[in-house]
Amino acid sequence: NTKVWKVDKCVDNLESNPHVVDAAHFLRENEVVAMPTETVYGLAGNAKNDEAVRKIFEAKGRPSDNPLIIHIAERSQLEQMVAEVPEKADRLIEAFWPGPLTIVFRMKEGVLSKFATAGLSTVAVRMPDHPVALALLRACRLPIAAPSANSSGKPSPTTAAHVVEDLNGKIAGVLDGGPTGVGVESTVVDCTEDVPVILRPGGITREQLEAVIGEVRIDPALTNEAEQPKSPGMKYRHYAPNAPLYLVSGTREFLQRLVEEKQKEGLRVGVLTTEEFAGEYEADEVLICGQRSELDTVASALYDVLRRFNQLNVDIIFSEMFPNIGVGHAIMNRLEKAAGNKVIVEK
Ligand code: TXA
Ligand code: MG
Repeated sequence: NTKVWKVDKCVDNLESNPHVVDAAHFLRENEVVAMPTETVYGLAGNAKNDEAVRKIFEAKGRPSDNPLIIHIAERSQLEQMVAEVPEKADRLIEAFWPGPLTIVFRMKEGVLSKFATAGLSTVAVRMPDHPVALALLRACRLPIAAPSANSSGKPSPTTAAHVVEDLNGKIAGVLDGGPTGVGVESTVVDCTEDVPVILRPGGITREQLEAVIGEVRIDPALTNEAEQPKSPGMKYRHYAPNAPLYLVSGTREFLQRLVEEKQKEGLRVGVLTTEEFAGEYEADEVLICGQRSELDTVASALYDVLRRFNQLNVDIIFSEMFPNIGVGHAIMNRLEKAAGNKVIVEK
């Protein structure tokens, strides 16, 4: 069984916490362990070692053509694995590291396991803003490959309990640093071109990036099904609850009518809403996902709410939609993927 190592993230000297030391030891032995970050829990393994990376893919059931993000604790580790740090990337690092921003660079050959980068000539790197993750990275003195610590296709884990739900028995242990905070994954921005491109919206918004480096594009594949995404991970159905999920564009009365239609067919119906409007629905399960007036709280609660629908055994879920600005961009991206792009528009 997978061990849960509780670690209080607020104390000093986490690097010498016995659980962190144990977890670092596993990493040095090319075993995999889960760690908290400020976005979601990650499944950590030695990025230099083929065997460790193979274990990550195997535990998650992840397709091998989907490259991993490399996590570092010090800026000096970056120079060891990238061919160059473009000037705009440098400014983004200054502004947002440590933090929920992953940057894609041209890679220096021969440093990392080629399985970690799925054979690409680029590498995605980030410095997480979480005391337990940083302590673990420092204690093991390795670059760490870490995808989200969920089974491939499931909602990403924002608590240690979510990790255990998916990976119990498949990994040695999970460092439990409490719930993660941001709740959606890091923003992935490709800085190998003159105008940087967002490949995955996340914790750092387009507006925040543009305030630092000017124009930033969005990978057209994020909005157009026909395009081939440059971030291989974005082509898979993801974050999905077991029951079919529909996004509803229209009034709350319209959403309520959809609920009643399905209940008449004998289905157990779930609704995903926010604190503001929860009182306006009558369904079998009405789950509150933060406060619409503060989209950060919606991001933070999203994956837990998607997972709770599974426990509640609903047959179908209707969800409100959110504005596509700020972190709302990441929220809508994840909801669209979870829904497999099923949107019902009120006529
Ligand atoms: O917040 C996060 O980023 C979390 C925590 C654990 O750090 N990690 C995470 O990893 O979300 P993962 O593996 O679930 O997502 C990595 C994403 C995928 O969409 C992948 O395709 C993309 O990053 N990616 C990785 N390397 C890439 C590269 N060289 N070029 C383009 N996309 C890349
Ligand atoms: Mg993931």
